[in-house]
Amino acid sequence: MNCAVIGLGRMGSAIVYRLLKAGHAVVGYDPSAQARQEAATVGATIVSTLEECAHHAQIMWLMVPAGPIVDQVLRELLPHLNAGAVVIDGGNSKFSDSIRRFQELKSVGIEFLDCGTSGGLHGKEIGFSLMIGGDIQAFQKVEPIFTAIAAPQGYGLVGPSGCGHYVKMVHNGIEYALLQSYAEGLQLLNEGEFKDLDLAKITNIWQHGSIIRSWILELTHEILKKDQKLEKISGTIAESGTGSWTVEEAHKQKVPVKLIEDALEIRAWSRESGGNYATKLVALMRNAFGGHALGMKNPPK
Ligand code: 3PG
Repeated sequence: MNCAVIGLGRMGSAIVYRLLKAGHAVVGYDPSAQARQEAATVGATIVSTLEECAHHAQIMWLMVPAGPIVDQVLRELLPHLNAGAVVIDGGNSKFSDSIRRFQELKSVGIEFLDCGTSGGLHGKEIGFSLMIGGDIQAFQKVEPIFTAIAAPQGYGLVGPSGCGHYVKMVHNGIEYALLQSYAEGLQLLNEGEFKDLDLAKITNIWQHGSIIRSWILELTHEILKKDQKLEKISGTIAESGTGSWTVEEAHKQKVPVKLIEDALEIRAWSRESGGNYATKLVALMRNAFGGHALGMKNPPK
């Protein structure tokens, strides 16, 4: 299929890579020269306008930061799209924005799918987990695109418009609590009753057969193998907004989300106070799976 990928950051480039590998004809667009250059290294044909994207393809995969940029791209793209074109927002947009965009595009004959994309840096090789919301006809029309990008069995239509980003938002809320939980346990082992425990060894044992083995734990083990003291690591944890949306939504629906809320508050506390051993670990985990920037307390000279 012909597809254009708009936004060629880490995730966008990985999407291009997987589409090309599956034999699709892909063009990529990004206003940043550096992003364009990096995407060219995975084999993307780079175009310099959104108009060219629309000339090449009737399937547009958006991988741009959530918020007004998505609307701006859609405004510029729209005059060049034909009826029946499908726009897929694969970023972390707010689900209510996605419902609005679906309706706006539908009124001019353009299909819109919202797609929560999980997998971070490693999705490039092993495939992503894709949670898709929208009309089934549009989903079926572009399904080979999802098959190419996803891990085996790692995609599906989860509900109507907005539902893909809603499910991804909740996925991220779960992620906040999970990261914090691993990190707190490891802080207790590091600072508790038994001194000088080998946390790399312990996390490796946990990875083999234990109930709490996981991808996050595997990455945490790799982190601890390199450095267990974390003295030079900043304990401040950033966030992209999905965790606080999860809590807001849960409050609206009167569903208790105590652990997710605590994890969110600890992130805010870490940014005020500089954090502790556990928040350093969470920051390192985000960096390991998502490439999210890491502050260094004493940056190397
Ligand atoms: C993401 O989905 O981009 C992150 O992996 C999780 O969200 P965060 O950036 O808010 O931690």
